[in-house]
Amino acid sequence: MMWYAPSFVLGASSHAHLKVQGLSAGYGAFLVLRDLTLEIKPGLTVILGPNGAGKTTLLKALSGLIPRGGEVLLNDQALPVKTSEIVQRGMALVAEGRQLFPQMTVTENLELGGWLVAKAERTRRLEQAFNDFPKLRERAQQLAGTMSGGEQQMVAVARAMMSAPRLLMLDEPSLGLAPRMVDELLAITRRIADSGTTVLMVEQNVKKALAVADRGYVLERGTLVASGPAALLARSTVIREAYLGAGAAVSTTATHAAKTTVRAEPVEALPSDRPELVEGQAQGERTL
Ligand SMILES: Nc1ncnc2c1ncn2[C@@H]1O[C@H](COP(=O)(O)OP(=O)(O)O)[C@@H](O)[C@H]1O
Ligand SMILES: [Mg+2]
Repeated sequence: MMWYAPSFVLGASSHAHLKVQGLSAGYGAFLVLRDLTLEIKPGLTVILGPNGAGKTTLLKALSGLIPRGGEVLLNDQALPVKTSEIVQRGMALVAEGRQLFPQMTVTENLELGGWLVAKAERTRRLEQAFNDFPKLRERAQQLAGTMSGGEQQMVAVARAMMSAPRLLMLDEPSLGLAPRMVDELLAITRRIADSGTTVLMVEQNVKKALAVADRGYVLERGTLVASGPAALLARSTVIREAYLGAGAAVSTTATHAAKTTVRAEPVEALPSDRPELVEGQAQGERTL
């Protein structure tokens, strides 16, 4: 695996800290997210949950791509409503499916990520991006559409970093990638978080995501059902039984024996770094 000194800082002024209280969002009259309360602290936070849970909807609502209700504070200031203003406040989204311009070169795609800044600064950031993603420098003139899935995802992440975000949101960056590329992508997100950009990542790759993340939330049917430090979540019954397969579950009590039953922490207990998911502490019980 490639390794180099992280240098993603690109003028980030302070570590982004997002506080979300009573968030609701959906499509027209169809409310997907109801009364979500969560906190995205500096570091790497992962959002887990089954298909259709509302993970993408959450990222869209935080990016201003769909209307939202409730309160969202970025470093204690109300988050604007319009996407362009949210971007200017330092939030960037790498959407599902990458959305590169396939007929444009890697360099041209990256330059689009820096469209808000003056040319000299854009050139500086491009050089920075090529330092951070050396594989892309070799491919600077290649058409994005001719690259592998993993390489394209790397371009998408590098393009988002061109806006020098304080908070980077990624929607399933490892979707459809070979295992080695998944590892490389997740290692990149870890380095981005370590160098000062707060990262909020939606991932289906539960085990690997929890291995690189600091904290996690589990979203099911538009509601948060669990949260906690990533290491504790990885050991929790909720995650082991519902997401890591029956073979990974080592139940310690009779109530955990039924595979379809998980224990969930009440949303009121969120957000916090307390070990909410330690066996025996959970209060709610629910059937998937
Ligand atoms: N553009 C849309 N219009 C209407 N409903 C949508 C739209 N996008 C997603 N949904 C619905 O919202 C729910 C949550 O979807 P989504 O946030 O994409 O879930 P996830 O990303 O967790 O798989 C699903 O029931 C989905 O069908
Ligand atoms: Mg999704």
